[in-house]
Amino acid sequence: MIQLNINGQDQLIDVEPEMPLLWVLRDGLGMTGTKFGCGIAQCGACTVHINGQPVRSCSYPVSAAVGQKIVTIEGLSTDSTHPVQEAWLNLDVPQCGYCQSGQIMAASALLERIPKPTDKDIDEAMTNICRCGTYQRIRAAIHHAAETGKGIGSVIHYLSDGVDSKSVDSELISNA
Ligand code: FES
Ligand code: FES
Repeated sequence: MIQLNINGQDQLIDVEPEMPLLWVLRDGLGMTGTKFGCGIAQCGACTVHINGQPVRSCSYPVSAAVGQKIVTIEGLSTDSTHPVQEAWLNLDVPQCGYCQSGQIMAASALLERIPKPTDKDIDEAMTNICRCGTYQRIRAAIHHAAETGKGIGSVIHYLSDGVDSKSVDSELISNA
């Protein structure tokens, strides 16, 4: 058995240690907010946070996540009110939506590291692919979140509070 800490909750799961974290999340735990795109760490659709850092979970063995703090899109907020999610909604960022949970996770990690990023900071950090070409709206939404983002650090508060990840509503990305 492998024990993981996901969105503030400890979970035991019986999987092979080399299984990618993405498979554990989606197939093992039914947390489908994190998407499968390329499977080779190129597109970023599968981005989650490990100890606050953006990680491409399709290429991250679950054994490496033991003892780490994992946050998925379901854990970013309980009601889609994280400043990055609100900025995404305010600026109508998604088109098809498929890449957007990964984009939001990458953007929220960037804002934790750099609260007021420049365009250059954003371009360097946001390497996720969007086949719909929403890059300009993503950049605008990150600036918007930086300006309005009291509580950008809510992931940390969330983790310290501890929330049942299975009860979390992932409405923002559920249609992606
Ligand atoms: S599915 Fe993981 S980077 Fe594309
Ligand atoms: S919104 Fe369609 S792939 Fe990004």
